[in-house]
Amino acid sequence: MLVTELCGVTLKNPVIAASGTFGFGKEYAEIFDISRLGGISSKGLTLEPRFGNTGERVYETASGLINSIGLQNPGVEAFIKEDLPFMQKSGAAVIVNLGGHDLDSYLKGVELLDSQDFDLLELNISCPNVKAGGMAFGMEPATAGHVVKEVRARCHKPLMVKLSPNAPDLVGVALSCQQAGADCLSLVNTFQGMAIDIYRQKPVFDNVFAGFSGPAILPIALRMVYQVCAAVEIPVVGLGGISSAEDAIAFMMAGARAVQVGTATFARPTAMLDIIDGMEDFCKQQKLAHIGDIVGAANPGFR
Ligand code: DOR
Repeated sequence: MLVTELCGVTLKNPVIAASGTFGFGKEYAEIFDISRLGGISSKGLTLEPRFGNTGERVYETASGLINSIGLQNPGVEAFIKEDLPFMQKSGAAVIVNLGGHDLDSYLKGVELLDSQDFDLLELNISCPNVKAGGMAFGMEPATAGHVVKEVRARCHKPLMVKLSPNAPDLVGVALSCQQAGADCLSLVNTFQGMAIDIYRQKPVFDNVFAGFSGPAILPIALRMVYQVCAAVEIPVVGLGGISSAEDAIAFMMAGARAVQVGTATFARPTAMLDIIDGMEDFCKQQKLAHIGDIVGAANPGFR
């Protein structure tokens, strides 16, 4: 009922743990059966290890979470040795999220990863928290298309590109990624936000602006997914503030083939299991043979 196909990869359901919120799955495996998930996207990797940003890294607000992690990760080589084997045994589809600070670092990362055993490469061109690279590649169509084209030429896995809601022409970026050979898109990464420490009279984060996520961004992310799904022909994975089965179903009706869940897992580690169960209940109640039948149902422009 929930089995979903994404770029030739079979997911047992359309619910994927979003990059950066689930590490490599190890901590969550102690809390619940992670083999129930459709997929797990790894913490964003870079060619070289990164310690991440200095100062405050996470700030909770009444409307959502702001993070300034700065792509802390062990680097591609250590990931391959120490974390990938665990992900391969997780029972969920394995998605490797890769960022870069310049074109060369993306390409070297892809070259190391391409021969490894995993299901999908998620190219992160939308991290708002690092100065060099990060969001820069995803902000306008030509730059995004260029990096995707170069990566595509070296990548034999299905290629998903993660887009930024901060791009002024998001639909243009999506079309350019499609044209450059992306197999699917994931959207949206976090919005650029900020917080001010009123007692110190200064921004909370050393890098001032940081990534805002959580339920407050859902209606905007949903609108973006709806618009992109009406423009592109490749599958879209929707994310942005999803915390319930109803939220996930709304993204799918906008045209998303699958969804990712991030911030909700911090508050409730088992949120994704409730979403999976809720989707199954919805199918039964609506007499749907397959969850895929709702994809694009609420979007007349869906292609
Ligand atoms: O909000 C985000 N934070 N998005 C990313 O892509 C990476 C992450 C980080 O490490 O800063």
